Amino acid sequence: MIQIVILAAGQGKRMQSQLPKVLHRLAGKPILAHVIQTTIDLLPESKPIVVIGHQGERLQETLSHYAAEWVVQTEQRGTAHALEQALPHLPSEDHVLVLCGDAPLISAMTLHQLISTTPANAMGMLTATVAQPFGYGRIKRDAQHRIQGIVEERDATVEEKKLTEINPGVYYIPVQYLKKWLPQIKNNNDQGEYYLTDIIALAVQDKVLIHTTQPLMTEEILGVNDRVQLATLERFYQRQMAERFMRAGVTLCDPARFDVRGDVQIGRDVVIDINVILEGKVVIGDHCVIGANSILRDTQLGSGVNIKPHTLIEGAIIAADCTIGPFARIRPETRLDEQVHVGNFVEIKKSHVAAKSKINHLSYIGDSQVGRQVNIGAGTITCNYDGVNKHKTRIEDHVSVGAGTQLVAPVEVGKGATIGAGSTITENVAAETLVIARARQQVVSGWKRKEKKE
Ligand code: UD1
Ligand code: CA
Repeated sequence: MIQIVILAAGQGKRMQSQLPKVLHRLAGKPILAHVIQTTIDLLPESKPIVVIGHQGERLQETLSHYAAEWVVQTEQRGTAHALEQALPHLPSEDHVLVLCGDAPLISAMTLHQLISTTPANAMGMLTATVAQPFGYGRIKRDAQHRIQGIVEERDATVEEKKLTEINPGVYYIPVQYLKKWLPQIKNNNDQGEYYLTDIIALAVQDKVLIHTTQPLMTEEILGVNDRVQLATLERFYQRQMAERFMRAGVTLCDPARFDVRGDVQIGRDVVIDINVILEGKVVIGDHCVIGANSILRDTQLGSGVNIKPHTLIEGAIIAADCTIGPFARIRPETRLDEQVHVGNFVEIKKSHVAAKSKINHLSYIGDSQVGRQVNIGAGTITCNYDGVNKHKTRIEDHVSVGAGTQLVAPVEVGKGATIGAGSTITENVAAETLVIARARQQVVSGWKRKEKKE
């Protein structure tokens, strides 16, 4: 069996943060959640053991929806000490795959390659050759290119610092070896910590073969130690996502100005303009156009939807061929049927708007049911809140609501009714009637304005 251990007990001092490092977000999701998800993709049946310590309860709470086993390292005395806390949970006949909780981009494919190429009695590890090895443990090899050990940045000599082959911190080890090696590790280094990297020298001493393999992409092994590195990883991740979508038939006007923070599906021949953010669970149908500076969160768009610039849509289901924006705000629990038009400065909340209706300018529609082919004039407001409770507005098919109308809920407007502009509707409106509810215009002829005396 293969056991997985993720080391995540450290504070991450270099983040300069109240929040534990592994809870900082990459693409909207905690760094550690990416690592856990990758282990699930790799071995769906497995339950990773996560070693926690610094604000461990907070980690457990934030990631409680993952099936993981949490092991506490009360004092952070180094990576070897951290792994040692998991030892009692690891059967001697098993192998353990060790991962760092702060390296979120490692792929299941790379891990699979490491596991499948490591010979039975060997230990396996990843290594990578990078242009900027600063901060990583360096791999030391002998003249025959055999691994001799790992030296940490802060313990390295000037010569050792020049080595560009680094340790990503990913190992695949028979548990029986670990049980032998971990207790032998000493903390006689610059930090006074128990370094897991010291097992390499012990493996060499015990003549255990150390098998190394490289990640499919070097960037996968990048760790987050500070916020500069976090930003670098974020950009790399976003570029990957952008390329994946472009290859699947999505036009991105600028792949560098497109951000995905969640679980996103996009159809073909979709055009996405600059500075669009897709968050949570988003589904975009074929032939949609998403205008610049728009944000879609937990939203579903049917095919052919046209989102104009500066639009924010959250928790909505939008059917085919709707047009929304510019500057529209669609809030949770909104459903728009086919060919609905929503124009500028319109806010819709918790409402269902049936097919072909239009709400084109400056309106607020909340807690409402709007029928088919309704026209809502500019500046219409559903007054849904009486200061204590929310009430519903019901507008039947083919209604025409004049500009500047207030619909004081609870209220119903019957099929085909027309409401005159500027009305304040406080009672139900019968079908096929015209209702005007505003003060009559008065005319005072010959009236003169007051004039200022000089
Ligand atoms: C470690 C490796 C280094 C490697 C790098 C890869 C050691 C000694 N060094 O260095 O060779 O190049 O990762 O990114 O292993 N942790 C605990 N408990 C502890 C200390 C750390 O759980 O007592 C966890 C941290 O939360 C982190 C991971 O182990 O997720 C690595 O620790 P970190 O302090 O970031 O080690 P690096 O200096 O990056
Ligand atoms: Ca690290």
